[in-house]
Amino acid sequence: MNIYLVGFRGTGKSTIARELASRFGAPWLALDLDELLEEAVGKSIATMFEEIGEAGFRDQEEETLRRVSAFDHVIAGTGGGVVLRQANRDILKRGWVVWLTADAETIHRRVQRDPTTADRRPNLTTNGGIGEIRELLAARDPLYRDVANLVVANDQEGSIDAVVTTILTAWT
Ligand code: S3P
Repeated sequence: MNIYLVGFRGTGKSTIARELASRFGAPWLALDLDELLEEAVGKSIATMFEEIGEAGFRDQEEETLRRVSAFDHVIAGTGGGVVLRQANRDILKRGWVVWLTADAETIHRRVQRDPTTADRRPNLTTNGGIGEIRELLAARDPLYRDVANLVVANDQEGSIDAVVTTILTAWT
């Protein structure tokens, strides 16, 4: 069984994945799907969007998720748009899925102060502002809900420990 962390950008998926893996200990391993994909292709997500478009990126994303799903004891942070494809949702449902949430204001603040925003989230820049975030959240929430076994709010600053403990308690 794998554990997948899904949710919008800025909800702390990769940080929580790492913390969870260190609390679980061996044989659990934290992975970040976006990082794995960038390493496998040898290009940043922004470059992939430029060269092969969003559809091309989504194909690569699906392929990466498929590969990771063949492993066991992986705690995987996923890209915010991974739930857009039914094929991905089917794969995610074979694992245990935690949906991390945060409100639009919190996401907006976090995305703006994240230095990797410009090259990691090409289609989701801060240009659209909070309105774009609200629109995407409204469209994606039902998809996150569809795959989630557990929903945990990660709105508060410094709440990582509490979030990790909530997840651990629900898992055991
Ligand atoms: C995306 C989110 C990004 C990355 C890509 C597309 C999205 O991942 O996969 O830029 O569509 O929401 P993060 O959620 O890690 O930022």
